[in-house]
Amino acid sequence: MKVGIIGVGTVGASVANILRDNKDIITARAGCEIEPAIGVVNNLNKKRDVTIELTDDLEKVLNDDSIDVIVELMGGIERPYEIIKKALANGKAVVTANKALLAYHRYELQDLAGDTPFEYEASVAGGIPIINALRDGLTANNILSIRGIMNGTCNYMLTKMINEGIDYDTILKEAQELGYAEADPTFDVGGFDAAHKLLILGSIAYGIDVKPEDILIEGIQNISSEDIDFAKEFNYSIKLLTIAKKVDNEIELRVHPSLIPNHEMISKVDGVMNGVSVIGDKVGETMYYGAGAGGDATASAVIANIIDIARRGKGAPMLGFETPHGKNLKLMPKENIRT
Ligand code: HSE
Repeated sequence: MKVGIIGVGTVGASVANILRDNKDIITARAGCEIEPAIGVVNNLNKKRDVTIELTDDLEKVLNDDSIDVIVELMGGIERPYEIIKKALANGKAVVTANKALLAYHRYELQDLAGDTPFEYEASVAGGIPIINALRDGLTANNILSIRGIMNGTCNYMLTKMINEGIDYDTILKEAQELGYAEADPTFDVGGFDAAHKLLILGSIAYGIDVKPEDILIEGIQNISSEDIDFAKEFNYSIKLLTIAKKVDNEIELRVHPSLIPNHEMISKVDGVMNGVSVIGDKVGETMYYGAGAGGDATASAVIANIIDIARRGKGAPMLGFETPHGKNLKLMPKENIRT
């Protein structure tokens, strides 16, 4: 199976390199060889840590009949949206990690894809297979709540600000240098990236179709040194929490900083790690923990989707967004949410 990678940055390079480094085990598990055939980049002169062939001719790759799977890792919204539509129209399976794109166009693209695989495990919580857990492992349950830390950059920053007293600007710069932050880090610190992920999980758990503008989002930019001193003094951590909760027939969706007592498990999710708690009506609470950003961890989830596509065979139907609770659920207006 041949893969074209659109966007060879931190994650794209990891996808190419892991497909090479773990080739034996991946071939055995996929049932065929998966070849990272080509990477599409804007600037061919930029030095990149990859051994795959690179091109700046996107159209050629989209129209190349020998490419089976397009992996979209370029970021942005409207351009990748057009590219994915074209790839799907050309019968190519698509894997994306692009949560911003999915926050706006997920239902539409899923419909367009029809029976052609369209997968996005890496879009939420980096390397944690949370989409897989919701779709498969917990599928017998009504999901009562999803509560988590889903932005590695903010968690890295808050952890360092609280534990080491490092200032906001210095630590944001460090998170950028480590490749955790979005190209525009306002998406991270403003809570928007976490909100995009929340909408994806909300779609899968509740079939809810709303946009980021519809939900309550507060970032970490206004956390003061007084807030940090206060949290420390009373044995609390500050975390950017991402919450989906079913309250009767309404779904509460929100992102905001929260004070968490230090004895709670989620308070121990530090650094770039993400942690997600999902409560199902039958299973009770389940928790997931792992790296929420970074090249290899995110690539691990991207490649899981590629292997899955190889196993099922291109053209086999995939699960779309579920609507397990029927059509009676609606979004709780953000004005009604008490934080
Ligand atoms: N900027 C994102 C984060 C990358 O920090 O979590 C992973 O989605």
